[in-house]
Amino acid sequence: MTGQVRIVGLSELSATVVRARLLDEHDRFWDTDTRALHHPVWFHQFGGFGAVAMTGDGDDVGYVLGTVTADRLAYLHLVAVRADRRRSSLGRRLCGWFDDLARSAGARFVQAVTRPDDEVALAFHTSLGAAPHLSRDHAGPGADRVVLTRPLAPA
Ligand SMILES: CC(C)(COP(=O)(O)OP(=O)(O)OC[C@H]1O[C@@H](n2cnc3c(N)ncnc32)[C@H](O)[C@@H]1OP(=O)(O)O)[C@@H](O)C(=O)NCCC(=O)NCCS
Repeated sequence: MTGQVRIVGLSELSATVVRARLLDEHDRFWDTDTRALHHPVWFHQFGGFGAVAMTGDGDDVGYVLGTVTADRLAYLHLVAVRADRRRSSLGRRLCGWFDDLARSAGARFVQAVTRPDDEVALAFHTSLGAAPHLSRDHAGPGADRVVLTRPLAPA
């Protein structure tokens, strides 16, 4: 596993193949079971806003999935960096890739949603400039979430 990590848009890849590969490696990216959040629609229909970070050897070491909504909100659905590649700014790079594309699609804000006890995700998103807001029952009764919002500066 050597060389530079490049970020490749999902539109250049086979959605079916990438989804299968990321699900195979799920536990190297996530501490909790997020398989249900990897619904095929995020790869097939919204893949234009997604990307994979790959080593020169073709290893997937990070990815981002999201979309831009009609009201110019860039929704960051998932961002993950493989456990052995963390704290080297790859998460920041993936979000930067997403931000650039979202901005070019007219987005003004980026939003992510996480669990209130996910300290790493909270630290990560706030380090990017997001403001946290506790949203009660966001994911259903008793399932509070923190909504993290940050402005996207125009290009
Ligand atoms: C959250 C995640 C994507 C961050 O990826 P990463 O590549 O390690 O993040 P970066 O190196 O770009 O870190 C950017 C900043 O975020 C903050 N940060 C990242 N990880 C952190 C941690 N474990 N503890 C505290 N702050 C952290 C820091 O401020 C960091 O800047 P610094 O390294 O200069 O101090 C990664 O930890 C991950 O994949 N976690 C599991 C999946 C997940 O929780 N995704 C987010 C929910 S959608």
